[in-house]
Amino acid sequence: MHALKVSFGSAALSRGGALMPGAALALFVAAGLAGCSSGSSSSTPTPTPPPPPPATLRLAAQTHNVLMGSAADSGYLSESLYASTLSTEYSQLEPENEMKFGLIHPEPTTYAYAGPDALVAFAQANGMKVRGHNLVWDSQLPDWVTAPTSPWTPATLNAALSDHIANVVGHYKGEVYAWDVVNEPFDGNGNIRSQIWYDSPGIGYAGQGTKFIEQALNWAHAADPAAKLFVNDYSVETENAKSDGMYAMAQDFVNRGVPLSGVGLEFHIDPTFDTASNLNSLSQNIQRFGALGLEVHITELDVRLPDDTTASLTAQAQTYKDLINVCLAQKACTVFQTWGFTDKYSWIPSFFPGYGWALPFDENYAKKPAYTSLLTALQ
Ligand code: XIL
Repeated sequence: MHALKVSFGSAALSRGGALMPGAALALFVAAGLAGCSSGSSSSTPTPTPPPPPPATLRLAAQTHNVLMGSAADSGYLSESLYASTLSTEYSQLEPENEMKFGLIHPEPTTYAYAGPDALVAFAQANGMKVRGHNLVWDSQLPDWVTAPTSPWTPATLNAALSDHIANVVGHYKGEVYAWDVVNEPFDGNGNIRSQIWYDSPGIGYAGQGTKFIEQALNWAHAADPAAKLFVNDYSVETENAKSDGMYAMAQDFVNRGVPLSGVGLEFHIDPTFDTASNLNSLSQNIQRFGALGLEVHITELDVRLPDDTTASLTAQAQTYKDLINVCLAQKACTVFQTWGFTDKYSWIPSFFPGYGWALPFDENYAKKPAYTSLLTALQ
């Protein structure tokens, strides 16, 4: 449950150690041997050029045991450039919306599995992993939860959430390898935010801090004991009051054997994040969670810009590069995921008015400087 590294079979190589994937290494050796035993009268073997570096984010990241992820939506899979870019460049996908409570469980006894099932099938057909998002959040809830016909009591709400988690995690048992079980529970001081699942009315643990998170983790673990379970939040990238709260929770859960596998750092940022002091604090932060035996996933990275001038795109490329390099230097950082991959479908313009251009591919699926800097750093 607390495994630190994701395994990649024959391509498993140490972080910062040997650099060639297994297949490339075998070819290289075979070519070298062929050159040595050519049987010609000349005794000078023909030098064999090294193989080219891996040409996609997915393959390059694999040599570091890091999964390259993207948020995705089943509605776009019929668009051929969307599907081919996603499957070629990424080794993991996460439904951007389709597994959220309101979408997957729109009525008390109705589950809408078609969209997320299509994403899971696409991932399986392309050898990609699926990260589930999310089970417990106070946003994108259905009306039957937020405006019930008779008011919730902690007991009835507890039963509803327990049923939801058992159904959804059970449906994807063995198919979703990791879940954001609880999303965005902390406030800026590292305390639990007031919300339906905690104290309004809550599932029975109002005033007991992280106890409702513990309960949700236990339900998810019961439904799929092999799934990795995460708590995910924003503004917890560096060491600060909020990430301190998350760390205190993690330390407590690890000490008491609560089934937590890691934490998710959302990473909705702009290039002003990219300072030496923030990068250093990020490294320390990942390191302290890693020292607990936990994984750290970068879950929703995007680097929003106010325009697409060369200067902005260059600053963005530098930001992506600096972040992947921090991840590669930290063994606990096992997933590097962006919130979508093409500017065509980014959530940024509608949620951060005046901003956009946040992802590694532009709206025509052309590779941006950010893509090139990521690939180069991974090679
Ligand atoms: C966002 C989606 O990208 C939007 O399409 C949707 O309208 C709102 O939610 N933190 C999260 C994500 O954990 O689920 C959010 O996704 C972005 C912020």
